[in-house]
Amino acid sequence: MIKSEIIATGAGIPKKTVTNFDLEKIVDTSDEWIYTRTGIKERHVVMDETGATLAAEAAKEAIGKAGIDPKEIDMIVVSTCSPDYLTPTVGCMVQKEIGAVNASCMDVSAACAGFIFAVSVADKYIRASAAKTVLVIASEVLSKFTNWEDRTTCVLFGDAAGAVIMRASEDRGIIKEELGSKGEDWEVLGNGKLPTANCFNGMPKFTQDDTSIFMDGREVFKFATTKLKESICNVVESAGLTMDDIKFFVPHQANTRIIEVVAKKLKVDMDKFYMNIERYGNTSSASIPVALKEMDDNGLLNKGDKIILSGFGGGLSWGTILVEW
Ligand code: COA
Repeated sequence: MIKSEIIATGAGIPKKTVTNFDLEKIVDTSDEWIYTRTGIKERHVVMDETGATLAAEAAKEAIGKAGIDPKEIDMIVVSTCSPDYLTPTVGCMVQKEIGAVNASCMDVSAACAGFIFAVSVADKYIRASAAKTVLVIASEVLSKFTNWEDRTTCVLFGDAAGAVIMRASEDRGIIKEELGSKGEDWEVLGNGKLPTANCFNGMPKFTQDDTSIFMDGREVFKFATTKLKESICNVVESAGLTMDDIKFFVPHQANTRIIEVVAKKLKVDMDKFYMNIERYGNTSSASIPVALKEMDDNGLLNKGDKIILSGFGGGLSWGTILVEW
């Protein structure tokens, strides 16, 4: 049976670092508040970079490590909830940058769970023999949707891109997955409202604030800690495995406290949860592939390891994937 294997990883990180101390100068907050509530010390924010340039940087690194020719790529799937344009897709812009002339390109949007959804799409094309080599990227520039006067949200997020190359494989790859959504709670978390103003409806007023991130933090916290635990259990059990069989859990990096609660509920040691939120903040759907790239670079991922990738976010949506490295 054909499976889809992750064969290489990459990342694109903006050069500028913004520390909690920098934010103390902008809003009424403190390094102590931010770090104890979220685990974040600093994040990266774009200056001259864009979602497409970060994505292309991540893609080039992954392509180089995989040792493939960009012309071998059949498909580019980009997860983003903060694209440069509504059209063209970030996927098409990356295609031009890397010369993947034989690829079809699409963006998928499932907020912070988006990388899991994008990997799932790539997995289906590969399993159906409709593609052999797929470049999956998650690229997010949430800083442009951040209200830098709102201390309840501006301290949480950062910009980044992460990429993986997925390839058809006979013996290892994605084993199980669960994707889900709860649209009835869409108002709990979101960003980027678009104006519906036109000359026939009186051009309703639309402010920069309307486009900013909106969030009910406590509801998100409850949702994340419940759903992440449930979803990981469902996937591990449906594969006939136990938590002991999992080498690493790579959760969406939204908040250290969320992960600590989930680890406790699962009775899994925190050491098995890969964490880098301290240095990046919440980079939405980019957080999981950026974590994977770091783990890969640090030699933490070995052939045969079973890894759980699990994301959650606006929508509300969630997704968990069990992969054999
Ligand atoms: N600095 C200082 N004080 C802040 C602050 C900041 N950046 N943000 C909020 N506060 C204040 C609040 O105004 C409130 O003050 P008050 O008691 O005088 O009213 C107090 O801190 C507590 O606020 P609250 O919102 O109850 O804090 P919390 O313990 O729920 O923590 C979050 C807030 C956002 C850290 C927490 O709810 C959370 O992590 N939620 C999940 C968010 C998330 O992960 N979103 C993305 C998912 S993809």
